[in-house]
Amino acid sequence: MSKDYTTLVDQACAVRARSYSPYSRFKVGAALLGRSGRVYLGTNVENASFGLSICAERAAVFRAVAEGEQDFEAIAVCADGTAPTPPCGACRQVLLEFGPDMVLLTAGELGSGGEVRRFTVGQLVPEAFRDFRPGGGEDGR
Ligand code: THU
Repeated sequence: MSKDYTTLVDQACAVRARSYSPYSRFKVGAALLGRSGRVYLGTNVENASFGLSICAERAAVFRAVAEGEQDFEAIAVCADGTAPTPPCGACRQVLLEFGPDMVLLTAGELGSGGEVRRFTVGQLVPEAFRDFRPGGGEDGR
């Protein structure tokens, strides 16, 4: 039987309220579960210079790395609307960096009380760009 991530989903929905998103008015929260058992929260943070905005998922990953964790089991994402929102391509690529097996749960604003979809990060990034080697050479030189 697969693990129940109800608490993680609801943590993502709770932090969503702290989103700074005056431009899109679209609030997103993320809760990233490290293998240590710690949970790292993130929200989208927008900027008047729109391109500088960051998504909730990446905010959570960057926070976790800065706090010393790089091994992740799962991430839950909670966004406005009743239907779950799939993560953007940039966030998929950043999550993939930390493992295709990471479980990714998406929920709408009803959290675990509404529809929750479950994937692995690898499923969401087919034919991924990974294993970068400087110069593209076999030994990197
Ligand atoms: N957003 C996220 O935080 N995560 C996603 O995966 C998709 C989009 C944010 C970025 C922006 O602040 C707002 O949602 C609208 O695109």
